Amino acid sequence: MLDAAEIDAVSQVLSGTQLVHGPVSKAFEEAFAKRIGAARAVSLSSCTAGLHLALFATEIGEGDEVIVPAMTHVATAHAVEFCRAKPVFVDVEPDTGNMDADAVEDAAGRNTKAIMPVHYLGLPCDMDRLCGIAKRLDALVVEDCALAVDATYDGRKAGTLGDVGCFSFYPVKHMTTLEGGMATSNNEALADAIAKRKAFGYDRMLGERKVPGVYDVDALGYNYRMNEAQAAVGLSQLKKLDAFQEARAANFAALKAALSELEEVSIFEPRKGKAVSSHYCLNAVLPVDGSLDRAAVIENLNADGIGTSVHYPRPVPAMKYYAERYGYTPGQYPVSEWLAEQTISLPVGPHLAAGDPERIAAAFKEAVRRAKA
Ligand SMILES: Cc1ncc(COP(=O)(O)O)c(C=O)c1O
Repeated sequence: MLDAAEIDAVSQVLSGTQLVHGPVSKAFEEAFAKRIGAARAVSLSSCTAGLHLALFATEIGEGDEVIVPAMTHVATAHAVEFCRAKPVFVDVEPDTGNMDADAVEDAAGRNTKAIMPVHYLGLPCDMDRLCGIAKRLDALVVEDCALAVDATYDGRKAGTLGDVGCFSFYPVKHMTTLEGGMATSNNEALADAIAKRKAFGYDRMLGERKVPGVYDVDALGYNYRMNEAQAAVGLSQLKKLDAFQEARAANFAALKAALSELEEVSIFEPRKGKAVSSHYCLNAVLPVDGSLDRAAVIENLNADGIGTSVHYPRPVPAMKYYAERYGYTPGQYPVSEWLAEQTISLPVGPHLAAGDPERIAAAFKEAVRRAKA
């Protein structure tokens, strides 16, 4: 949902003199931190960059283990691999898709240096238990909030519940900067360490240098910066975010209500305990016995002009790279395997027009009927 507001904002940056490291990124960071209720926000080139830097800045590396859900985007596990640490995969809960705290207890050990709760499709994980386990182990909690902007747990927003929260502004997320991400934290020292390592490990940023071009480097760092044009898009998107979120919640409720009589399909609730979802999308989960052919349902829906997606196409440990590296036996992560094979993500974003949720539900019922025939 980009329009003249973002085009104007980008034009202003492009006609100015500062394209990176400038006041727009700073303003975007401050506005995003305020929205989330975090002390700090560090703008980045992607969510993946944030996940990586959270581990890298805390010196997690070879010999260390990081607990990651099997059902997530590969970025969560890749961040661990980038640091040469070992991702230890755990299965997820069948009613939320979130990492199962009992499985985390079982997987936790002496080498566990971090836990990465992924708020699956925007519903926060059981953070009381996960943070409790992390505290006992003195491990870091890195929330993967890629799909969880404005999701809450016990009234607090995702991204403030662990040590670091990482958000994605890739297109089709709650808000976009085209590509981009943000790391949030209430720990000033950790936010500073991430900020330094997103820009080569410079000891002084552009505005802090006495002599232009003169700096020292006191840490190893990457180039994971967001530029001023992206930040301008982000600031503009933040102004629209309340309207976007209202539309998502309303579309989700309408679509869920319209699908309620489909007995063979389960839909994850947008609330559980203290957790309230950000309504990223509505996932319709087909029966565990495979009695409905997902490919046929998706084909029927797409033929009716309904866009769908799948979150995610395989459990990460079953992806070729991970399976070859760590070994994988089918049946090892039964809930993640079921979700990977049987979930269909349906759109609830603000791009939907009035009546679209009902139209999507009608098409879904018809697609299921045809898949059964
Ligand atoms: C859970 C999760 N984490 C991380 C990412 C990666 O985000 P980015 O493309 O901003 O690096 C995604 C992408 O969709 C995701 O779904």
